Amino acid sequence: MVDHQFSEPTLAALYDVLHPSEARADFAFYLPLVMAAPAVLDVGCGTGELLRLARQRGHRGHLCGLDPADAMLDRARRRSDIEWVLGEMGSVDWDRQFDLVVMTGHAFQVLTGDEQLHEALAAVRAALLRGGRFAFETRNPVVREWEEWVPANAVLVTDSAGAVVRMAHQVELPVQGDLVSFTTTYSSPDWERPRYSSSTLRFLDASALSLFLAGAGLEIEQQYGDWDGAPLGAGSPEIITVARRVALPLCRNSTQPAMSNLSGSWSAPPGPT
Ligand SMILES: C[S@@+](CC[C@H](N)C(=O)[O-])C[C@H]1O[C@@H](n2cnc3c(N)ncnc32)[C@H](O)[C@@H]1O
Repeated sequence: MVDHQFSEPTLAALYDVLHPSEARADFAFYLPLVMAAPAVLDVGCGTGELLRLARQRGHRGHLCGLDPADAMLDRARRRSDIEWVLGEMGSVDWDRQFDLVVMTGHAFQVLTGDEQLHEALAAVRAALLRGGRFAFETRNPVVREWEEWVPANAVLVTDSAGAVVRMAHQVELPVQGDLVSFTTTYSSPDWERPRYSSSTLRFLDASALSLFLAGAGLEIEQQYGDWDGAPLGAGSPEIITVARRVALPLCRNSTQPAMSNLSGSWSAPPGPT
């Protein structure tokens, strides 16, 4: 189920106020990749800012944004020269249409279950042209960023109607394995009552991530630890990955033993190489 903060129009309208594109170091990383690719799919595109910027900067190819949250997508739809699709990655059937698939804003971390991850990665691979790339990031669990998600670190923003809105996180402790659940509270003196949104994000480490990708026929080409292009190290804040579509593993034996630390079953996704 989609977070309330993405499906409720008032909260969706706050997203770009809280995360203005001009302040986003991740967009500086992704935009050159998008501009260089003729056909791009943005999974979990949210309000569509990345593709909007690409079009604004002269991208003339096929730009498509996918998101299951109607309130986020309604904001994206204000730009009509981009294709917007309501749904999740597994619910659509793109066959080798894109040179690049991106997942930004840590959208990858909403994929919390093993099956959900396998399905999404299989669908990403199927959507890519031969040799196409998947670029995304996930927060490095070693850094335990969620420990900063406390009410004392609340932020204040002013929405388009002039209301001052406070946003605060509260993590449910103890953390359950690699799953971090938290509540985000939005409040304003101009509102009758606060609005709440519950989220769970998965914090995969680099080795578990590489096994999921390899099992899905996606080979890691480059990895970075931060948006300035620093190499991935043990204490890097981000695990930024660019993976290329390759042939599917011929059999599961090569990955099965190493997958034993992951819960759930694993099977190679079907489809051509
Ligand atoms: C933190 S926002 C990121 C939005 C945008 N990519 C960005 O960089 O600003 C996460 C987005 O993932 C979407 N989302 C949630 N579940 C999803 C799923 N299963 N597949 C794809 N996107 C999903 C949410 O609706 C939300 O718009």
